Amino acid sequence: MSDAFQITVDGRPVPVTRGQTIGAALHAAGVRSWRTTRLGGRPRGLFCGIGICFDCLVSVNGRPPERACLLDARPGDEVTTS
Ligand code: FES
Repeated sequence: MSDAFQITVDGRPVPVTRGQTIGAALHAAGVRSWRTTRLGGRPRGLFCGIGICFDCLVSVNGRPPERACLLDARPGDEVTTS
């Protein structure tokens, strides 16, 4: 079994190494922010990286928003950021 696979983020492929979280995969792909704050529209992505700040929220496979830094990426995951 390969240690590499892809997920899609807003329809674009993002490479993943098995064991990475979705947040880690985005960071490794050079994506530093993927949503904005409701007030002020400020960019947000990984900040604490350990599940405290909630800055990294994403939706995976249609589920309600979850913290990308805590979610293991799985082959075929469809991630949306808005
Ligand atoms: S980066 Fe802080 S909760 Fe995910």
